[in-house]
Amino acid sequence: MSNRIWNFSAGPAVLPESVLEEAAQNLLSLGDTGVGICEHSHRGKPFVAVADEAESLCREIADIPDNYRVLFLQGGASLQFGMVPMNFLAKDQTADYLVTGAWARKALKEAKRFGNAHVACNSENANFNYIPSEMNYSDAPRYVHYASNNTIYGTQFRTEPTGFSSDAFLVRDASSEIFSRPIDIAKHGIIYAGAQKNLGPSGVTLVIIRDDLVEAGSHELTSMLQYRTHAGANSMFNTPPTSGIYLMMLVFRWIKEHGGLTGMQTRNEDKAGRLYEYLDNSSLFQATAEQDSRSLMNVTFVTGDADRDAAFISQAEAKGFSALKGHRSVGGMRASIYNAFPAEGVDALIEFMKEFEASA
Ligand SMILES: Cc1ncc(COP(=O)(O)O)c(C=O)c1O
Repeated sequence: MSNRIWNFSAGPAVLPESVLEEAAQNLLSLGDTGVGICEHSHRGKPFVAVADEAESLCREIADIPDNYRVLFLQGGASLQFGMVPMNFLAKDQTADYLVTGAWARKALKEAKRFGNAHVACNSENANFNYIPSEMNYSDAPRYVHYASNNTIYGTQFRTEPTGFSSDAFLVRDASSEIFSRPIDIAKHGIIYAGAQKNLGPSGVTLVIIRDDLVEAGSHELTSMLQYRTHAGANSMFNTPPTSGIYLMMLVFRWIKEHGGLTGMQTRNEDKAGRLYEYLDNSSLFQATAEQDSRSLMNVTFVTGDADRDAAFISQAEAKGFSALKGHRSVGGMRASIYNAFPAEGVDALIEFMKEFEASA
């Protein structure tokens, strides 16, 4: 139908085409209201129905227990890097951080502004190409923070970290893998994710937070920075990102129609599996992440020669494979193949890589 190309962007990233088509129609008029989705008041019935459906679908697909709140906030995952410690970490308390990538390190930096931040593991010595198996937790952390998928380095936790004091709650930055596989909400106190990879456009942040933590946060902060403010106002304390929440609602419908989170996992294992299999058998390209830490969302690889990498990226671009350049801090290539990225695009990339390899 269109001139769309294969978009491997790490975020904002590809969205399901059916979602975009439906959104395009509703930009002019949401249903038969005669008013476009961006033009509706957030207090009016049509948008409130959208927000209610977004929340209930989110709860349904992720099987979110009743004692958790679902919030649609702003400020991206980066604001959560600060909001978590400013609400929960007093000057004399310690929080543990699993430093498995640049985003996790940024979260650590924000925590240090408010209290003690203890590094429970750090894989920087190997350019973050693995998830450490040994953790060195502090004795009584207030919480333990991790980023479950490391967007830049293409690594992903297989399971939630364990072994820390049972008094601590687990905080997960799930930005680059949210709803790409089933998630055990009850093991966490807070889960947050910027929407722009797996859930919708940038500008809306999904936060799933346990009830007791909504109440336990600091009362000293300005209202916008307290979770209780947003929980108390059903994420409508101020004007929410209405069009982003609408798109998220459409993406949740799409996830449900495609088998929910187990359907997403099957789809993602299949796509990433094909690409890693090719990489493992290639005599030109190599995957950079250690095998047992590989991400299903961001597949990072190199040829081992920076000039050849650059030639590959530019030839790929010319053939309609966009945004394959690795993050500026690591170089090489990165194929981000989030939920909505089609399997045909992965196959087309593999074919192109084979051609490039044959001509190299
Ligand atoms: C794992 C992870 N955490 C946090 C962020 C920052 O997100 P935002 O731009 O929404 O603040 C990103 C952005 O790519 C990310 O990949």
